[in-house]
Amino acid sequence: MSVLAGKELRIVGFLCNWCSYGGADTAGTARAVQPTDLRIIRVPCSGRVNPLFVLKALINGADGVLVSGCHPRDCHYSAGNYYARRRLELLKDFLPVIGINPDRFEYTWVSASEGQRWKDVVTNFTNRIHALGPAPRWEDVPARYDRPEELIESIRPLGCGAHPSLPELKQAIKDALAEGLEGVLGWKQGFDAIHAEPVFMTTPEEVDSLIWGPFNVHNLAVYLPQYKGRKIGVVVKGCDSKGVVELLAENLISREDVKIFGMGCNGTVSLPRILAKLPEGAKIESCVGRGNKLTVTAGGQEYEMTMAEVAQDKCRLCTRPNAVLSDVFVGNPTVEPAAPADGRLPGLRFLDSLSLEERMGYWKGQMERCIACHACRGACPMCVCRDYCVSDTRDPAWVTQEDTVQQKLFFQLIHAQHLAGRCTGCTECERACPMDIPVFALKQQFGRMIQKIFSYGAGLDVKATPPLLTYQVEEPTIKEHDLA
Ligand code: FES
Repeated sequence: MSVLAGKELRIVGFLCNWCSYGGADTAGTARAVQPTDLRIIRVPCSGRVNPLFVLKALINGADGVLVSGCHPRDCHYSAGNYYARRRLELLKDFLPVIGINPDRFEYTWVSASEGQRWKDVVTNFTNRIHALGPAPRWEDVPARYDRPEELIESIRPLGCGAHPSLPELKQAIKDALAEGLEGVLGWKQGFDAIHAEPVFMTTPEEVDSLIWGPFNVHNLAVYLPQYKGRKIGVVVKGCDSKGVVELLAENLISREDVKIFGMGCNGTVSLPRILAKLPEGAKIESCVGRGNKLTVTAGGQEYEMTMAEVAQDKCRLCTRPNAVLSDVFVGNPTVEPAAPADGRLPGLRFLDSLSLEERMGYWKGQMERCIACHACRGACPMCVCRDYCVSDTRDPAWVTQEDTVQQKLFFQLIHAQHLAGRCTGCTECERACPMDIPVFALKQQFGRMIQKIFSYGAGLDVKATPPLLTYQVEEPTIKEHDLA
């Protein structure tokens, strides 16, 4: 049956004013017969199309989304479509992770004189969407509440014993304070023996409270932008140092303002995994680490556990246990393992094993538990807009205050999209989540696509430019999508 004879579906088209909108006009002037499902939104340039426009349309019920701009080399703003090409290619590869068929989205190029080409593009895309049928509705998909439980094997030895070089590190920090550093970010023991908390050390006494070990879970790079312009120091694990490098690469902090202190890391713990081994509500009296074993005393009883049982997933696959960049590195570096064959954390592995509809159900189940506290955003060192986060704006209102799966998922999509090519994989978003929602899978999906398309990993080189902030006129790893 011809699409013209079928029921109309909801297809949204974002067309650049100068070329594709003109092409659609040319087709109309020539009275070309076309399907009428497409609802056109005119934008100044394809570079103006934020991938969030596409995501918002798709998760709110559009059956298909088409973006069309000027051909490469013809953009009226020189390079808008080059930036768009990178973003939209990445977006297409991202959609399956949230259960959306990537064929429901396409981007292409049509010039103002190509009326016939426009007719072919819109007809072929509409036919494709009709062949797929109406998009599944969030309301109709059964929510799934199962989640990844597997403990992935570590590619390196994990340890929790006292670090022999901690006194040397403390001395180096005291020396730096004496030389004029305003303060140094580190960790001290929190309200009990298994909780650490960040500390801004300004005196030798505060430096004496510094701890180093499996409880130093926070990525302290998150605090650096607020100290911009002040001379401070920061103590880093390998994963934290990638955050510092990325902040430097994006000019969000200055190299001359920050002194970086590092030591080799042997892994950090997942507190929920430790607490799961203790009686509920038991008061923790002490915790001692020896080798790869932790002995926690709680409620007068001793509980033994190994790092293999309680380490964070990211530490099991970590290939950068030493600071990528440091001014003072104390002690022997931790042996760096080779890159794992499969760097996916359990969240993404689990999603990969599901069908598209099951993935929608998975996110529906996860987002039903989300309390929208936005702790994931607060813990992220690369979330730097702070008080100006677009998800908080009311004009435009990207996210409403409705307590729906779509609204809460869209917040996560804003976060993931803004981190595309910038996320260093510290997984702080997931660790900070009080509802234990595996939100890092969204960022890891972007990360692996960035690696595949642009061979780029964030947080490794202060001179590197994140791939979505640049372009190549000829993109050897991006295949043109010709709908005509
Ligand atoms: Fe058409 Fe930039 S003006 S894509």
